[in-house]
Amino acid sequence: MPQGQDTSSYTGRFDGTHSKHASPAMAAMAESANPNEINVGMLPTSTKWSVLSSRMEGLVAELSEMVSKQDAYCISHSRAEGKAMRAVREKMLSTPWADEWDQRRCMFSYGEEMSTDPLEAVLLKQLVFMAKPRRVLEIGMFVGYGAVAMLEGSPAARVVSLEIDPYLKEWLGSCLSDAGCTDLMQRHEVLLGPALESLPKLTGEFDMVFVDANKAEYKAYVEGILARGFLAAGGVIICDNILYNGYPYMHSHFDAQPARRHFGDAVRDFNQWVTDHPDLEQVMLPVRDGISIIRRTEDSLQAQPEVSAKEGISGGEWLKLSGHPCSWGVDYADHPSNPAWDKVISLMSVAGYTGTDLGPVGYYDTERLGSMLNGLKLDLVAGNIFEKLHEPDQLQAIIEKTKTSCTTLKKFGAKFFVIVPHTVPEKEATAGRSQDAPRLPDEKWDYMMSAIREVAKVVKSQGICCMLHPHAGSWIEYEDEMERALKDLPADLVSLCLDTGHCTYAGMDPVEKFKKHVARIPYMQLKDIDPVVLKRMQDIKGSFWDGVTGGIFCVLGKGKVDYPALLRAMKASGFSGYATIEQDFDNKIDDEEKKLMYPATCSMQSVKYLRDLASAM
Ligand SMILES: C[S@@+](CC[C@H](N)C(=O)[O-])C[C@H]1O[C@@H](n2cnc3c(N)ncnc32)[C@H](O)[C@@H]1O
Repeated sequence: MPQGQDTSSYTGRFDGTHSKHASPAMAAMAESANPNEINVGMLPTSTKWSVLSSRMEGLVAELSEMVSKQDAYCISHSRAEGKAMRAVREKMLSTPWADEWDQRRCMFSYGEEMSTDPLEAVLLKQLVFMAKPRRVLEIGMFVGYGAVAMLEGSPAARVVSLEIDPYLKEWLGSCLSDAGCTDLMQRHEVLLGPALESLPKLTGEFDMVFVDANKAEYKAYVEGILARGFLAAGGVIICDNILYNGYPYMHSHFDAQPARRHFGDAVRDFNQWVTDHPDLEQVMLPVRDGISIIRRTEDSLQAQPEVSAKEGISGGEWLKLSGHPCSWGVDYADHPSNPAWDKVISLMSVAGYTGTDLGPVGYYDTERLGSMLNGLKLDLVAGNIFEKLHEPDQLQAIIEKTKTSCTTLKKFGAKFFVIVPHTVPEKEATAGRSQDAPRLPDEKWDYMMSAIREVAKVVKSQGICCMLHPHAGSWIEYEDEMERALKDLPADLVSLCLDTGHCTYAGMDPVEKFKKHVARIPYMQLKDIDPVVLKRMQDIKGSFWDGVTGGIFCVLGKGKVDYPALLRAMKASGFSGYATIEQDFDNKIDDEEKKLMYPATCSMQSVKYLRDLASAM
């Protein structure tokens, strides 16, 4: 206060106010001939006050501007809704929810406020885009606006939604199918039932979890996820509605809907439990009804390896699965009917593989391969040649291809190289019928063995494990041929790539052969053989290629190979590492969608089958 100023003396106007007028009414009168056309620039604000009522009016106006427009502004400027999201939102807005409930078609009374709103949905989409989770778990789906947003966020993401109401699964399925979003549907699985009952049925790990079902069960969901090891080491849990209408931090005196209080209290207790949890850290964000992002602390992750390694083994982590371009019909790098390599490798990731084989030299673009592997979180596992090793004039070219392949394998850390003898007309014609099939004369056989040794030496010099893969319709197919080759080739130079499908096609039992040669089998190729097609081929004396186009190679678990017995034998022997799933396919078809999606769908089923088996052991 200036010296000598008397606090009780009249001061006149308080300098410092910036108000031009005493009240809004006077401002309106001063600015416009029509008092209904108020110039907002002249209205009082919380600071440009003159008397108390003007100050309060200013405060309310300022608050209302700031608060009521914030969400609308954010939503109107957040534009990331894709085709599938739009289809879901539009169908949701046109669904007569009150009628559906009146007719008891759905389990609960719904409204569009049940759905993740556009702002939060596009936030989820961007989070998925950034974090590139391979598997996402959603608890509580409603019409799937959030699930679809996450599926749109990354073509490599697969989402499993737990939802109690069958009506909603049906609703979303027909919505996406009508909108033509079949690719997206392939990556989405909806498990029906109460979430706490569905959780124990899940297998594997999730990189992201979105919790959004019964608010009273949030703590039980997160406890279950952590206890069962479902959260991957780098994974996050996102919880919706953690500010639940303000109930967790407001006094119950202000409850607008007292019936909601018990959910509000449950969310409050959950938030506190996470805050106090020694192994968790979280950030709470006031987006819409509040979201929290939770992860395990670095310390708890450091302390975990022993436990998670054990859990991993019992959770099926001992078996890793890789895909091969041959499942998309790619046997030769430059065949005109080949699908685009980058689409194939992306679909491998979608199918649930964590690795890929290189396939024929030249098919994968090695300039872009590194970034694709990184982006899709895939390992490069093995390379192969499919060549006429019995023909001396081919050897030089085969050696060159082997060197090129090994350079790429080495660059990306792959460990295996597989020599596959090419099919020959004499044996193609008798595939699967040992009695009818000719054998290679001794002299030519010896030459073929020497050629394999030459190739194997090149591979070994690169520090890569070289393996021989007996193949139906080739000169190394049947039991006598396979055993002879294994005797003729030094075990420290050439290992055995046991292919369960080719083994079965040739009349051998792959479980027996695995047990017999286990010391020489660090990596495998897994196929299955449809017994009906096999029988038909034997009856009509069909060729190897008749068998392939006739669908002799089928989804794993649907054929002759006894996979439970094989995996038991593998686990018992301490096998740990990669096996490549293959399902040879004829891609010479006009349907481009089928060319990509049929192998992807089969792969997905085979991966799921083996993952479930491996986890149960
Ligand atoms: C808020 S909505 C989920 C919104 C959704 N996450 C989205 O992105 O739009 C909650 C959903 O959880 C489901 N739900 C409620 N209790 C459940 C339970 N115990 N188990 C599974 N789902 C449940 C409801 O049927 C409802 O569809």
